[in-house]
Amino acid sequence: MMAPDGTFYITTPIYYVNDKPHIGHAYTTLACDVLARFMRLDGRKVRLLTGTDEHGQKVQKSALAAGEEPQAFVDAVSQNFRDLAGLLNFATDDFIRTTEPRHIRACQAIWQKMADTGQIYLGSYSGWYSVRDEAYFDEKELQVVDGRRLAPSGAECEWVEEPSYFFRLSDWQQPLLDFYERNPDFIQPESRRNEVISFVRGGLRDLSISRTTFDWGVPVPGDPKHIMYVWLDALTNYLSALGFPDTDDALYQAFWPCDVHVVGKDILRFHTVYWPAFLMAANVPTPRRVFAHGWLLNRGQKMSKSLGNVVSPKDLKDRYGLDQTRYFLLREVPFGSDGYISHEAMVARCNGDLANDLGNLAQRVLSMVAKNCNGAVPEAGALNDADTLLLDRARGLLPALRRELSALAFHRGLEAVWAVIGDANRYVDEQAPWTLRKTDPARMATVLYTLAETVRMIAILLQPFMPDAMGRMLDQLAVAADQRDYRRIDAASALVPGTPLPRPEGVFPRFVEAEEEAAG
Ligand code: MSP
Repeated sequence: MMAPDGTFYITTPIYYVNDKPHIGHAYTTLACDVLARFMRLDGRKVRLLTGTDEHGQKVQKSALAAGEEPQAFVDAVSQNFRDLAGLLNFATDDFIRTTEPRHIRACQAIWQKMADTGQIYLGSYSGWYSVRDEAYFDEKELQVVDGRRLAPSGAECEWVEEPSYFFRLSDWQQPLLDFYERNPDFIQPESRRNEVISFVRGGLRDLSISRTTFDWGVPVPGDPKHIMYVWLDALTNYLSALGFPDTDDALYQAFWPCDVHVVGKDILRFHTVYWPAFLMAANVPTPRRVFAHGWLLNRGQKMSKSLGNVVSPKDLKDRYGLDQTRYFLLREVPFGSDGYISHEAMVARCNGDLANDLGNLAQRVLSMVAKNCNGAVPEAGALNDADTLLLDRARGLLPALRRELSALAFHRGLEAVWAVIGDANRYVDEQAPWTLRKTDPARMATVLYTLAETVRMIAILLQPFMPDAMGRMLDQLAVAADQRDYRRIDAASALVPGTPLPRPEGVFPRFVEAEEEAAG
């Protein structure tokens, strides 16, 4: 999945600005941020793009409901999404807004390219449209409830009849099926790939790609009464942020085709059917991979404003801590599946995995070193089998994480790390350095050295998930800032005996308050 030249371009969906960001939005960007950080530490040149989807009927309606001009409205809401980066420590490289001139230019250019190849014609559309999904539906896809037509998502559809430009999507059925065949990794996970293939096998109808009954969008080149269908507009963001249509632009040259578009399962069809078809029609290379993750459910229910069960990223951070939240979201739910989040699960992870397993390991080791080794990295004697085994396991985590994160299996990557944390905790108990202090101080020093070196590697490896907390752990081991990338997971970069260490401090406090609340 990695580009041969070692670059890595990863994108989040661009978020509709009809609503404040909730944890579902933060989840997608978090996953992308972790993968981007991982690739950077592993030596790739990375570009992580996020942004906001600001056109279309849904956004226009929300602006109207708020009594604001669309532009003023999108300016304000877009800023909330931009603020997420600061709140959850996302290291994004660019933030694209679809109302920016660079994006409008790219949309018009891709339209023109599709028109030049004869893929667009003028007709008229009459049929059902769901504003909430910003999608067209066939009568047979809809459910009739009390005379209302509902889309599979449950959103109400309205009847639309208007002149419209169409894209010859029906021409692309076979080319798409051939494309999926040639690129077996294009759609992941596998179950989603099968879903998309059977949808395309079922036949494709030409797609309406312009609207005339409202005006909040990108004008169609040469016919500005029409504005572009918001999904054609939105998908193009992945190109506009690289300087497209200037294919000589250094960013386009370095980063297109995209390595992975990470999306929620609800928007898979747009990314795996429409998007590659648009690109093939415009003679632009197709992205390498689209990965669809599942839904985060609040105690089993999908979060929505109407249910009043929306979890805000800020509340989670304020209550449990920044890195605790980052860790929890990617550990608790296998990426790709739907999963529940709850206060109880969060507390269990904070106290079990973080405070007890990892926090205590680091704290026990560092405080024994502080007390018994003059506050400096201890001198290791000859290593025995148990020492070597533990160090080898920690070192072996790098290839394991590469494998799991390439498949976006964050939970499995973390499981592998926690297996070694478990080994390290057992090693402490077995070696009992507190007993060796009296009986064999030289052996105690070797054991503490082995443990400190194991913690060093674990902290380096976990930086993408918990950048702040692991940064503090590495500070306590006096690991220099330029010694924290993945080339340092080797014996040559091991801790140097005699290096003075700062006074140890716990990194993951226990969540006591919450336990009291839960009990009460
Ligand atoms: N604007 C479109 C995307 C255009 S990309 C060219 C859109 N925006 S959205 O704001 O509605 O959703 C953005 C992403 O957030 C989607 O991938 C969606 O799956 C994700 N999530 C929104 N709520 C979610 C959960 N409760 N759980 C997990 N992800 C969810 O769609």
